[in-house]
Amino acid sequence: MSRKRALVTGITGQDGSYLAEFLLEQGYQVIGMVRRSSTVNFDRIAHLQELEALDIVQGDLLDQMSLIDILREYDPQEVYNLAAQSFVPTSWRQPVLTGEFTALGVTRVLDAIRIVNPDIRFYQASSSEMFGKVMEVPQTESTPFYPRSPYGVAKVYGHWITVNYRESYNLYACSGILFNHESPRRGLEFVTHKVTHAAARIKLGLQNELRLGNLEAQRDWGYAGDYVQAMWLMLQQDEPDDYVVSTGETHSVRELCEVAFSYLGLNYEEHVVIDEKFYRPAEVDLLIGDATKAHTQLGWKPSVDFPGLIRLMVDADLEALRTEGYG
Ligand code: NAP
Ligand code: GDD
Repeated sequence: MSRKRALVTGITGQDGSYLAEFLLEQGYQVIGMVRRSSTVNFDRIAHLQELEALDIVQGDLLDQMSLIDILREYDPQEVYNLAAQSFVPTSWRQPVLTGEFTALGVTRVLDAIRIVNPDIRFYQASSSEMFGKVMEVPQTESTPFYPRSPYGVAKVYGHWITVNYRESYNLYACSGILFNHESPRRGLEFVTHKVTHAAARIKLGLQNELRLGNLEAQRDWGYAGDYVQAMWLMLQQDEPDDYVVSTGETHSVRELCEVAFSYLGLNYEEHVVIDEKFYRPAEVDLLIGDATKAHTQLGWKPSVDFPGLIRLMVDADLEALRTEGYG
């Protein structure tokens, strides 16, 4: 019997690497789309690269033909669109480019599916950033959106074009509204990894200060390894639908600092310095998701809680620094 085939855009990112691992474990042939760059950045998937079941192909969300060609050549049954400009502060510096990747890029993938094979099942990586200035607490699939960044606005477009292509062309297209999810593979500019990495460096005497922005912002933080399983589950149902994926708990950036630093026997107040540079033009103050629909319809549940997540990230940062010869 031939393997099931899945195309993953954004495979070099945090979620792409965990999703590829998960799909390979399920017996899939995984086609990972990467954009051309002068230096390869395959760190997160280096351990998978030799596998015969993984094909890395060049393509770009900005280039319609590259998407059509990949679907024609590899004929996947499932497409996971994870590629995006995903860092919120960059979206104010590059709002048009963010819109090209994160908003119009979704339409390009959907059009490629519509043209090549409308039976392909599609997952769109939507975001709790769409709730922005929240209209309801906790947030569910029916909470109205009020995005607060060009990134959030672009994701709202990506969500609605997914719904629209489902309704217009009868595509099996799902939008996963995922709340923040983290891991040792998280980019270092995101606040969780910035904090756990700095705490580990301070513990080893490599730095003394950590400069942060708004400590009062609250997020519903989960573990990325859990969240990619929800993506897959969405594409295995009888009917396509949209789902919130979250832990149902919220914590502030201040609590994140407390947990990370105290785990290493440190007091965050002696090291954290507030720097206006990290404040945003418009902030998302509070996110907390209600994932009841994902629990009941997908049978999905998170397996890692907030302190467990932060501790596993601190441990991984300490180990990586020690491997580099520090401490
Ligand atoms: P990430 O680590 O920033 O990865 C983004 C990926 O997109 C990278 O592989 C990047 O490739 C690729 N990419 C960017 N522009 C591209 C383009 N024009 N063409 C092709 N590939 C492109 O993000 P992540 O945390 O894994 O998140 C995955 C997706 O989920 C994103 O869409 C993000 O917005 C969304 N999301 C994330 C979270 C979260 O908490 N992590 C929550 C909700 C939604 P390079 O390696 O070449 O840069
Ligand atoms: N990055 C960063 N750096 N954030 C800081 C800092 C800092 O020095 N200091 C405070 N924060 C606050 C931000 O103001 C924000 O309120 C919160 O920490 C979380 O910031 P990020 O970790 O950058 O994540 P995000 O919530 O803006 O966006 C992430 O989650 C979204 C889902 O809600 C990204 O992964 C998005 O791609 C994703 O869609």
